Amino acid sequence: MTILKAAALTCEYRTNPLGIDIKKPRLSWKIISDERGTLQQSYQIQVSVHPDFHILLWDTGNTYSQDSLHIEYEGPDLNENTRYYYRVKVWDNKTRESSWSETAWWETAMFAAYDWKAQWITPSEAEIDPLSEPAFCLRKEFQLQRGILSARIYGTGLGLYELFVNGERVGDELFAPGWTSYHNRLQYQTYDVTSQVQAGPNGFGIMLADGWYKGNITWENKRHVYGDRRAAFFELHVKYEDGTEELIATDTTWKAATGPVVYSEIYQGERYDARLEQEGFSLPGFDDSSWSNTSVQIMPVSQLIAQENSPTKVTEVIKPVAVFKTPAGDTVIDMGQNMVGRIRFSVKAEKGTKISLKHAEVLDKDGNIYFGNLRKADQQVEYIAKGDGLENYAPHFTFQGFRYVKVEGYPDQENGLSHEHFLGEVIHTDMEPLGEFECSNPLVNKLQENIKWGQRGNFLDVPTDCPQRDERLGWTGDAQVFIQTALFNYHGGPFFTKWLRDLKAEQHPDGGVPFVIPAVVGGANAAAWGDAATVIPWEVYKAYGDKRLLQEQYDSMKAWVEYMRKQGENEYLWIVGFNFGDWLALDAPSGSYSGATPKDFIATAFYAHSTRILRDAAKVLGRWDDVQTYSTLLENIIEAFNHEFVSQSGRLVSPTQTAHVLALIFDLVDGKVKERTAYELNELIIQNNYHLTTGFVGTPYLCFALSKAGHHDTAVKLLLQEGYPSWLYSVKKGATTIWEHWDGIKEDGSFWSDDMNSFNHYAYGAIGDWMYRAVAGLDMDEELPAYKRIRIKPQFAGIHLNYAKAALESMYGKILSAWSITADKIELKVDIPPNTTAEIVLPYAQAADISESGNPLVHSEGIYTYKEKDNTVTLTVGSGSYHFQYHNKNGLMVEFTQDSRLIDVLAYETAAAILEKHAPGIAKPPGIFAMRTKTLRELAVFPEANLTADKVNALIDELNTIEWNLELVK
Ligand code: BGC
Repeated sequence: MTILKAAALTCEYRTNPLGIDIKKPRLSWKIISDERGTLQQSYQIQVSVHPDFHILLWDTGNTYSQDSLHIEYEGPDLNENTRYYYRVKVWDNKTRESSWSETAWWETAMFAAYDWKAQWITPSEAEIDPLSEPAFCLRKEFQLQRGILSARIYGTGLGLYELFVNGERVGDELFAPGWTSYHNRLQYQTYDVTSQVQAGPNGFGIMLADGWYKGNITWENKRHVYGDRRAAFFELHVKYEDGTEELIATDTTWKAATGPVVYSEIYQGERYDARLEQEGFSLPGFDDSSWSNTSVQIMPVSQLIAQENSPTKVTEVIKPVAVFKTPAGDTVIDMGQNMVGRIRFSVKAEKGTKISLKHAEVLDKDGNIYFGNLRKADQQVEYIAKGDGLENYAPHFTFQGFRYVKVEGYPDQENGLSHEHFLGEVIHTDMEPLGEFECSNPLVNKLQENIKWGQRGNFLDVPTDCPQRDERLGWTGDAQVFIQTALFNYHGGPFFTKWLRDLKAEQHPDGGVPFVIPAVVGGANAAAWGDAATVIPWEVYKAYGDKRLLQEQYDSMKAWVEYMRKQGENEYLWIVGFNFGDWLALDAPSGSYSGATPKDFIATAFYAHSTRILRDAAKVLGRWDDVQTYSTLLENIIEAFNHEFVSQSGRLVSPTQTAHVLALIFDLVDGKVKERTAYELNELIIQNNYHLTTGFVGTPYLCFALSKAGHHDTAVKLLLQEGYPSWLYSVKKGATTIWEHWDGIKEDGSFWSDDMNSFNHYAYGAIGDWMYRAVAGLDMDEELPAYKRIRIKPQFAGIHLNYAKAALESMYGKILSAWSITADKIELKVDIPPNTTAEIVLPYAQAADISESGNPLVHSEGIYTYKEKDNTVTLTVGSGSYHFQYHNKNGLMVEFTQDSRLIDVLAYETAAAILEKHAPGIAKPPGIFAMRTKTLRELAVFPEANLTADKVNALIDELNTIEWNLELVK
């Protein structure tokens, strides 16, 4: 019996989502097959309100289609507050029929027109100052009858809330209701509390704090950005077995008080006085006679939407690696990882003991804990013990970005603090991990880990720039540059669907895009920042095939392009107004954050980029008039760009790395100009001793531009560069996340500055995408998104990397590209999931020499075609796992030619020794300064080199006799 089944069913990207308000939810599945070349031929979906499907609501019947992603529900209208079960069966291209999948479900919450019975409540103003700091506690007791079938809570808060029923916390979600553009869109959550309620008396409790809604946000420490009153809004719906229902909702019968959370702010931290705990306040029978009344606030409900993003949770718990005393005498815990979340600790202490934790990311060069880069964010947590046995605490409504924690006041800490009492709870949006990357260089593997940690730390409901200082804002540019890497590492479907809807809601009437989303600081419309409006929906579409999101965002994308078109006199150039430029590039003039690449060059390049994306999106959506309009616009922008920014002889007016990168990667130059630009970019890197100078704008594309232009070796050298500035520089300095600045910590251990120096800023982590696609070679054919047609194209890079592996859990299933190279063998392992096909490119190969899982290539099942050209074999294959092996005819060696540069010879100790023999002293100053990047051909006639053509030939001959092994790579 062979295996064929539909599995991993999801509805709107989620497994069994509770509480969605989408009237036509979309269903997806993966296919499991043990045969190669499996394609879905047809599918059948059944939907029912009964788990045994005895009455069907919707049955597609056997539907002839290869589609297995985002199939829209087309049955009768859905009801609110109802669970729908669904199952899927598939037939494949080999006439196999699967059995039914396991049953999955989605549950509806309330649709937009729902008539909410709840009222927005808050403590009565006469009794509790609405502006006071402590978190509010709200409570209500109620009776339920016997025969409870199900119980759901729907609701939200203005501020942040935690819910309790009958003395227990409801759910494990943190920072609910999440951060959206509150005045436009406020998420409500759904909780299944069936097992927490009972017949008889019950209690319902809410804690409510300021959060993003009314607490301090932005570096200006603004308060009350959305409103100055906290409020809660909840409905509990109970269904009984006899078909009747009961509703308990927030109203003025609720009571209010303050409690132990005496202060809590996102940036500042929390103060918790355990002596003030309202123990059991959500239990029935709790004495609330001293509690205050509540009053109703008039608030609109039109902006309520069901939760869109995956919830924020504790996703991992880590233990400290050390506790030590700093030279300044502070007791500091080291978590071993720059993390985002909170410390949970336990303590036995006398009543009134005050324990304080202050969080920081790094130590300064003297080894003291460093708070300077936090600016106005205190990141301080204070706990006052109630003196009642072992107490356990973690803050409720705040998070910190930290690796180190300064502890004060823990009992007996002078005599040594045990790290046993402390745990680090890592908090972020609970995204499904999708991608893995690994290679033979351990520092690069650490970089990959740091990139992932950077994403975890900054995907806390919105994509933030940083998680520690007084920003933590949804900077559009940062999200835009990192999006591809982000979607590889973790599932970003729900996360970006929510955020893009906020972007759309806050876009200005003229199409302008605010700098940050949710828009809590002024300022809008910067090139490479506002382009988040086009780039992000397009990338989500490519990664997951999400046409609906593209459709939804289309007007917003178009508005942004039209905004750019209106700038200045020439509609094909964007050369006026404010721009950030190549933010933090190293070629910035002193005192500036913006690199040397002209801002109007960048703005026009991004204008072209967004216009192309818009045109491509129009194609996908069948908007043919727009395809025409924006194709013409793109041509005109490119023409204007060339006129404005390229000299007549084909040189870019801006001699920066970033300018060359953008011109190449956005296809702004062609023919001879393109060739020259590619050559110049490579030269710019080499002349800078294989170092980059790019900032936020150029860095994400730098290595791609080099690899695409035929300089993959140079790109790999940049990746492997350990000296400053480089990705591995920070790794070597002990970084466990990605730094905002290339020189966040300088070589002498001092800091770049206090002013803007985050050690957890994901932007430069955008290199991850290139590591996956270009180094490991796992890529897609963009014409068929979501990896429906996969491209596997390993690119070796000399002997510096002898293996690389990328794996991605795509919407269709797991894709793997893993290559390795030894002196005599090249191997490639590939996994292609069912219902997809792939093109596989095997470099340095001859078809007759390739074996696949031990068989000659031509006899291998699942391989449809192969082509051999220029030492490269290209295959088209169906799904399955493949293992290719062939001889490495070139062996494992570094080949030296007349075109090798002095700097390339000096990169290897063995080669440098041979060089010294043939050209004594050549590598010494001052000559080396002039000769370092010259080719051996040039050196033969360069007077100071004191060489001849014959000498150079002899040198090359001897260099090529080196028997390479990996030790010699040093
Ligand atoms: C943020 C950046 C952001 C920038 C705007 C900074 O303060 O941290 O990452 O993109 O401002 O240029």
